[in-house]
Amino acid sequence: MNQLVLVLDFGGQYKELIARRVRECRVASEIKPGRTALSEIKKLAPIGIILTGGPDSVYRDGAPRAERGLFELGIPILGICYGMQLLTYTLGGEVSPCTTSEYGRTKLSADASSPLFKGLEPSQIGLMSHTDQVTRLPAGFTATASTQNCAVAAMADEKRKLYATQFHPEVENTPNGTAMIRNFLYNVCNAAGDYDISGYRARMVAEIRAQVGDDHVLLGLSGGVDSSVCAALLAEAIPGKLHCIFVDHGLMRLNEGDEVEAAFRHRRLHFIRVNAEKRFLKKLQGVSDPERKRKIIGEEFVRVFEDEAIKLKHEHGDIKYLAQGTIYPDVVESGANASATIKSHHNVGGLPEDMSFSGLVEPLRGLFKDEVRALGRELKLPRALTERQPFPGPGLAVRIMGAVTKKKADTLRAADAIFREEMGRGRVKADQYFAVLTDTRSVGVMGDFRTYGNTIALRAVTTTDFMTCEYVPIPHRVLGRASSRIVNEVRGVSRVVYDITGKPPATIEWE
Ligand code: XMP
Repeated sequence: MNQLVLVLDFGGQYKELIARRVRECRVASEIKPGRTALSEIKKLAPIGIILTGGPDSVYRDGAPRAERGLFELGIPILGICYGMQLLTYTLGGEVSPCTTSEYGRTKLSADASSPLFKGLEPSQIGLMSHTDQVTRLPAGFTATASTQNCAVAAMADEKRKLYATQFHPEVENTPNGTAMIRNFLYNVCNAAGDYDISGYRARMVAEIRAQVGDDHVLLGLSGGVDSSVCAALLAEAIPGKLHCIFVDHGLMRLNEGDEVEAAFRHRRLHFIRVNAEKRFLKKLQGVSDPERKRKIIGEEFVRVFEDEAIKLKHEHGDIKYLAQGTIYPDVVESGANASATIKSHHNVGGLPEDMSFSGLVEPLRGLFKDEVRALGRELKLPRALTERQPFPGPGLAVRIMGAVTKKKADTLRAADAIFREEMGRGRVKADQYFAVLTDTRSVGVMGDFRTYGNTIALRAVTTTDFMTCEYVPIPHRVLGRASSRIVNEVRGVSRVVYDITGKPPATIEWE
């Protein structure tokens, strides 16, 4: 079994990011609620514990607390933001509201002789986001970093191996944050660096088996990276008990339904294709609000899964579990963890409350896209699958502005296929690229006649985690060829534009 670092969650937005950083440093990590009993923590025997941030104030009644005994286990601890304040409060120091709150990238002056900052320059940048701060250190601690407005931006009691930072080392806005976490793991916790993605695979296989026991599981398989990796993982964990449903909702890209079927038909899993174009288009008729479209599609997916579960019942009994390839960015952007809803990813915010499945199996829920691809390679999925660009569950519905019709879907499919072909011919590197059918019409001229056709927008982005992105500076010859082919070959399109917005402020999909 791998060494483990436990992340105790006090409501922080970044808990998954902390766990990810720890994994990046080749140490296994697991997130547990902040109120986890000491006896359970002892049983897990972590080599270190990280306390997350959180939105509360330690001196508010009802704020999450920690037992004093947590700091007496002899296990090294790193408290981040609220975690630092909690550590201070519990060990008899003082936390008070800031006179000047700090938000954003802030200059830090760090004590390079502290194990946490070993090998780093004294002048650092840290992401601060706080309204409380430590105003009196608990006994045994010294301040190890400060900012202009915050005298204790980090502190340590080296004897007891207790460390804390007011800033967030886990985010990219703290450029040397990963180095600090690595220092904590290797200089304080004596990590062996024994974890890699195969460790994650083994851990997940065991967890899936423990969760579902002898039950059968129905998986929504879209053929995208996430659900394909999820299928391979489940096929390994519960062979013979996995039923993969591929729903062709009529909003796939050109030929995609057949390609997905070809990729999975001969694998060692039960693959069922459901052609449900009519059913989806009927539900979407006249609906133009993006969030409603997403919710309708999310619900309809589950209705199809329920219908398929009923068909499987006579042979396998009640199917209790629905599996999905949900990954962490889907969860964040759908407004979990009390963060704002950016868009309801179909597999998170779009699930109906009254569904017939009693449990969800989501083994990739803590992973980021690049980690999912690595897991896919570990599971020996072909590169054509693991390196595929993502395609959103709601498909072309979120790339057709306004109400969805079959005609619009056909128009977009044709334009999108040309764009993808030209990107391939031009060997342009992008992590995701596609066409969008806007709801803007414009006047054009073809031959001697006036036209009044649709506008297609092209989008191509580079990104690693799909949480942020930059647009790709596609060579003009490629853009020009795509544009002229689209207006010539796709009926009803008279103008092509290229989207040059990053995320933020835009998102990758238009809806
Ligand atoms: P946005 O548009 O939020 O997209 O910047 C980020 C990434 O997520 C994909 N995406 C989805 N994937 N279900 C999915 O499986 C969805 O509902 C969904 N919405 C967006 C999007 O294609 C991009 O890769």
